Amino acid sequence: MTIPMPTPALEAYLDATAERRLARYLDLLRIPSISGIAEHAPDCRRAAEQLAADMRAGGMEHVEASETGGHPIVYADWLHAAGAPTVLLYGHYDVQPVDPLDEWEAAPFEPIVRDGRVLARGASDDKSNVSIALSAAEAILATRGALPVNLRFVFEGEEESSSVHLEPWLTANAARLTADVALVADSGFFAGNMPAITVGLRGLAAAEIHVTGPFQDVHSGVFGGAIENPINALASIIAGLKGPDGRVRIPGFYDDVVALSDAERTAMAALPFDEEALRAELDVPALVGESGWTTMERRGARPTLDANGIWGGFSGEGSKTIIPGRAHAKITCRLVANQDPTRIFELLRDYVMEIAPPGVRVEVVAMGGGRPTLTPHDQPATRAFARALEATFGQAPVFVREGGSIPVAASFESILGLPVTVMGFMPPNGNFHAPNEWMDLGNFETGIRALAAFFDEFAAHPGG
Ligand code: BES
Ligand code: MN
Ligand code: MN
Repeated sequence: MTIPMPTPALEAYLDATAERRLARYLDLLRIPSISGIAEHAPDCRRAAEQLAADMRAGGMEHVEASETGGHPIVYADWLHAAGAPTVLLYGHYDVQPVDPLDEWEAAPFEPIVRDGRVLARGASDDKSNVSIALSAAEAILATRGALPVNLRFVFEGEEESSSVHLEPWLTANAARLTADVALVADSGFFAGNMPAITVGLRGLAAAEIHVTGPFQDVHSGVFGGAIENPINALASIIAGLKGPDGRVRIPGFYDDVVALSDAERTAMAALPFDEEALRAELDVPALVGESGWTTMERRGARPTLDANGIWGGFSGEGSKTIIPGRAHAKITCRLVANQDPTRIFELLRDYVMEIAPPGVRVEVVAMGGGRPTLTPHDQPATRAFARALEATFGQAPVFVREGGSIPVAASFESILGLPVTVMGFMPPNGNFHAPNEWMDLGNFETGIRALAAFFDEFAAHPGG
């Protein structure tokens, strides 16, 4: 099969416009579009408006920053490739909060370019992929006057705060959002910077546990020994959720997990993954997890249960001899196909109630979630994207099950009925959600060529 190469005209255009393109990406990074913090709502709107303006300038049509009740969804299309397939390309312009601020080498919204990297919040997740997509479409339209495929952009501003308005928007707009594939541009490369295509994403089920003891904090000498302590009770509940073998003890938790085939296990084992490098990078004494599975399998193909936060009682300076009145924890489970977030929440809630010690009141509250996805390697868009990556990066991609979650990927399947290809150019260790998030500028530039090559390749072989 032909492997597409960037055309000379496209290459010349991209060369000539590199500086402007970088400036536009840095401008987007300067906008603190943190979707989860209410005071940044105007910044999210500004990011949406900048994207809309950039798309208009780049030749996209029907550009709108669509009102949702939350942060706008930016939509645009270009639909003049008669007879060619249609690609719906999704990304998000919102970012995660930036604390702890003092661990950043530079201010998170004042991007710096150093050693071929851009350092800023959102530099990789997901303003890299969004900027790459805009640049690819713009460059093709500028050099050829037409795209080889029909294209719809859907960029949301609430991915990092659980996309509450996207599903209703997809449902309301389903009739006009016809396409042949949803290209979910919110992922990245594999360890050591190998081109990769994401074939699995985990889902999520989130909960809070609230434990209530006496009517308020009370003296631990006067009452200690007579009443249950909510922090002790919460600790014993959390400890009871997993066994020493790393397995989640909630009855039924694993019932719907799709088994890994021997072939899949062999393929995962063949990935060039360096456990010791990961251990060292994370600076932990050992990698641990559910027994019977490799680290790769535990991260991509097995579900987890983790406490994300725990609070209550006194943690200030000195000592304070109390039995606290309350204790709280945030818990999330990462899910794999075919676990259902609602069902997993119910199982978690029931088991917490079952193992809760007497003497305290326990409440388990659902905090939302999202479904996992598992997509075939051999669908036409995935194959076309694999060829485009090989042609531009000089290396065939690996197919990876990512441990992260993009709940909307499942919505493109269920609401719009589209096959989904999850891809992107983020560096595997790009510090997403963490201090010193970064993007590799070489991958940024080659990513534009790869996406352009994908459009050509998918147009040439829409059936695979
Ligand atoms: N882009 C990530 C998901 C991701 C991470 C894909 C790593 C591939 C590799 C996405 O923005 C994200 O962070 N998702 C959240 C989902 C949550 C906020 C509902 C996540 O995984 O925690
Ligand atoms: Mn993302
Ligand atoms: Mn993210």
